[in-house]
Amino acid sequence: MKLGFVGAGRVGATSAFTCLLNLDVEEIALVDIAEDLAVGEAMDLTHAAAGVDKYPKIVGGSDYSLLKGSDVIVVTAGLARKPGMTRLDLANKNAGIIRDVAKKIMEASPESKIIVVTNPMDVMTYIMWKETGKPRNEVFGMGNMLDSQRLKATLFAQGARNIRKAWIIGEHGDSMFIMWSQADFDGEVDREKTLEQVRFVAAEVIKRKGATIYGPAVAIYRMVNAIVNDTKEEIPTSVILQGEYGIEDVSVGVPAIIGSGGVEKVVEYDLPEEELNALRNSASILKERLRELGY
Ligand code: NAI
Repeated sequence: MKLGFVGAGRVGATSAFTCLLNLDVEEIALVDIAEDLAVGEAMDLTHAAAGVDKYPKIVGGSDYSLLKGSDVIVVTAGLARKPGMTRLDLANKNAGIIRDVAKKIMEASPESKIIVVTNPMDVMTYIMWKETGKPRNEVFGMGNMLDSQRLKATLFAQGARNIRKAWIIGEHGDSMFIMWSQADFDGEVDREKTLEQVRFVAAEVIKRKGATIYGPAVAIYRMVNAIVNDTKEEIPTSVILQGEYGIEDVSVGVPAIIGSGGVEKVVEYDLPEEELNALRNSASILKERLRELGY
């Protein structure tokens, strides 16, 4: 099994590390515009692997041909927002990067499943899907899985136990919401407080350490694991909707079954009106952002 990573920065390299430790990987390829960084990360990961008696082939560089034959490619290439940069400036810059990455992936490894992580992730997932021309089950985004990990941690801190299901869905951003109707755990929590805490906690991490890294790395690993081990788990994922929940032609986070086929099914719950409206609100915000970018 081979994993590809486009973007060998903080999240790309750490998710490669997490996958390396937890999965049976034969080959890892890291591609980054910063060639030395990708080569250096590949070397460092090789040394980490040997420490647990694993000897996969790990390569790094700026040449996309390294990705050939990857089962899954995780895309974290892009910029983070810098002071003075508007949301739209960032989206424009990263959209340009994603278009370029899409073209190069299709030349090097057109069969791979692609997990998009670059922010604004839902918008970038749509652009990747459009530009690759791949079926929607093969191009999807990671965002709500991380949001849901943050939710689980917040619920636990408030005394919730045996958390069996706790999903955040919708935009990976301000309009995301908790799917309380399907949540399943023991104990009582303050719902309003929970959503506020989960929404702002990423900004708190970024303020203190500059980026979120381990949380996303584990969420990426969980999605890669579902694909390569065909677990058919339900994982909240940004998917191009084609009529589900009355939404189409936009990528937005919904519960999905992930297996060797990628997104094998969008799970359509009979949501209460409030949650359905919140999902449709996220979808319309994301459509507007896509329109701003010319899609
Ligand atoms: P980083 O700056 O550490 O890494 C980004 C890497 O992309 C850099 O190594 C850079 O050289 C590379 N890059 C830039 N342009 C490229 C191009 N044209 N081709 C190939 N590589 C290119 O950033 P970090 O912290 O790893 O974050 C990466 C992205 O992931 C950001 O957009 C961030 O906002 C997003 N993110 C998304 C999350 C989610 O839940 N969806 C969670 C955390 C981060």
